[in-house]
Amino acid sequence: MCGIIGYVGRSQALPVLVQGIRLLSYRGYDSAGVAVHDGTTLRIEKDRGRISDLAPRWDPATLAGSTGIGHTRWATHGAPNRVNAHPQSDAANVVAVVHNGILENDLALREELEKAGVTFRSDTDTEVFAHLFARDGGKDPVAAARELLDRCHGHFALAFVHADHPERIVAVRRGSPLLLGLGVRENLVASDLRALAGRADAVVELGDDQIAIVEADDVRVLDKSGSDVEVVRRPVEEHERETDKAGFAHFMAKEIHEQPERQYELVHGRMDTVRGHARFDDLPLQAADWKRIERVDLVACGTAYHACLYGAYALERLARIPARALMAHEYDARQPRLDDRTLVIAVSQSGETADTKVAVELALREKARTLAVLNVPHSAIGRLVEGVVDMHAGPEVGVASTKAYTGMLTSLLLLALAAAEARGTTNDEARELIAALDAVPDAIRRTLARTEGVVADVVREIYRAGNMLYLGRGPDAATALEGALKMKEISYIHAEGYPAGEMKHGPIALVSFDMPTVAIATAGPWRDRMLGNVREVKARDGLVVLLAAEGDVDAPKVADFVLPVPSLPPLLAPIVNVVPLQVLAYETAKRRGCDIDQPRNLAKTVTVQ
Ligand code: M6R
Repeated sequence: MCGIIGYVGRSQALPVLVQGIRLLSYRGYDSAGVAVHDGTTLRIEKDRGRISDLAPRWDPATLAGSTGIGHTRWATHGAPNRVNAHPQSDAANVVAVVHNGILENDLALREELEKAGVTFRSDTDTEVFAHLFARDGGKDPVAAARELLDRCHGHFALAFVHADHPERIVAVRRGSPLLLGLGVRENLVASDLRALAGRADAVVELGDDQIAIVEADDVRVLDKSGSDVEVVRRPVEEHERETDKAGFAHFMAKEIHEQPERQYELVHGRMDTVRGHARFDDLPLQAADWKRIERVDLVACGTAYHACLYGAYALERLARIPARALMAHEYDARQPRLDDRTLVIAVSQSGETADTKVAVELALREKARTLAVLNVPHSAIGRLVEGVVDMHAGPEVGVASTKAYTGMLTSLLLLALAAAEARGTTNDEARELIAALDAVPDAIRRTLARTEGVVADVVREIYRAGNMLYLGRGPDAATALEGALKMKEISYIHAEGYPAGEMKHGPIALVSFDMPTVAIATAGPWRDRMLGNVREVKARDGLVVLLAAEGDVDAPKVADFVLPVPSLPPLLAPIVNVVPLQVLAYETAKRRGCDIDQPRNLAKTVTVQ
């Protein structure tokens, strides 16, 4: 969703801000803007549209200066247009502010300000911050920021430039992430590490209800009472610096192809190959704790929720713990019964998803045990939970999640194997999985190589379809849902995923020659039943794309196209089976000319509920 970048230093701010906005673009946005202070005047440029169209219209001579803030907006309050784009300013244009998050008491504060004679120009909640900060921000910026923290409800990351202080950015954080990037004789502010690429060697994570005064040679952090807080620097690690597509046409393609390597690193980082078990010594949950757990709730949204469906399956099957996957945004509505014998596992690529964070907060209030499977351990959810399992997928830029999904599956499987060991339920299936884990990276590599040609043929047949159906059974029911989500997100073809057993209870009514079905029949006791479902589709003139184990001689007899994948135990198969479905969605979207890395209306990180 929205993104913030701020710069104060000795270089021209505008190119840094434009580059920062480019790097933030993957989050999804509809408008962008900058404010630059040249020492005398604070100037703002902003509009609806992409940075590639906007930046050439921003004149470097007019927007000269070494202090500035920039923003990408994903509209929540008010239409995506120039007036509502950020930076927002006060009536006298002495303050420019960029904002991520939601001001919850926006209407009450607006009314109060209007009564005091303020005229609002935009529909945004952000403008309230500009008017409030304008009152004292010139004289005493810390007092002005503290007043905001007192009076404003909701969650927000804010960066201000005040006309009276050309050498300074004031940053305030509650809930929404905000980082300070430390460079050489320059400092930055950003909502996202990615926006700091190439400029910051170390970062400071601003805590909740903290205020930062950022200048070129100095960074000061204060708490809500105005007292100085120790500035804790963290070096930016090598793997956090990745920013390019490595020769691929899109980040999504690059990320799909990174999966073998990411899987290898994840498995080898966690598996004790000598003793043949998964190591989670870094977690607060040890053997005795696992034995006390009576239920596991896995909470997440979107792709991460699909990973939870798989995770619940693995935990219940291997560790014999009742486990369920729940959409995080539905969690509080059911008033779940929680106590210290319940383990709540949040799964999230970004670690910032608002709904998932709220579910974790509920679990903490009810004294449940908490873990999170994350790709960004230093994140809002990471800070809340007792323990973090880092999926080590590396930065994921494409809005459609790919390598993070397979990272989530493998992390959850490893966790389930560790839980099984702790609870004494390790059986032959678990031992077979442990022995076969090493085969996953190569299986993905082989799948990518072998399915490429078939996918091209399939795309020629399906790219004009209006609707698609994805079917799978057992742990591959999650793969079906995930395959369908990938297709709809980036190609805009309406696609639904179902556990295949559900087909006869409704969706079969839709099957016809113009609705292609993708069926997953690679593994386990479900293969025969899946082939039965495929026959039912064929009997109704449906076109079938079948994922089948290499060498399955029946597959070509029942399907129009076969995507062959290496044979693996049923709980490992989903980690590989999803890969050709990612490629199918990618190639279909390409054929349809879609904006693959930034699909319409979607944001990479959904920080509002
Ligand atoms: O960062 P998270 O994993 O918590 O994000 C959850 C969903 O918003 C995300 O998976 C979304 O569904 C992706 N666009 C899927 O490709």
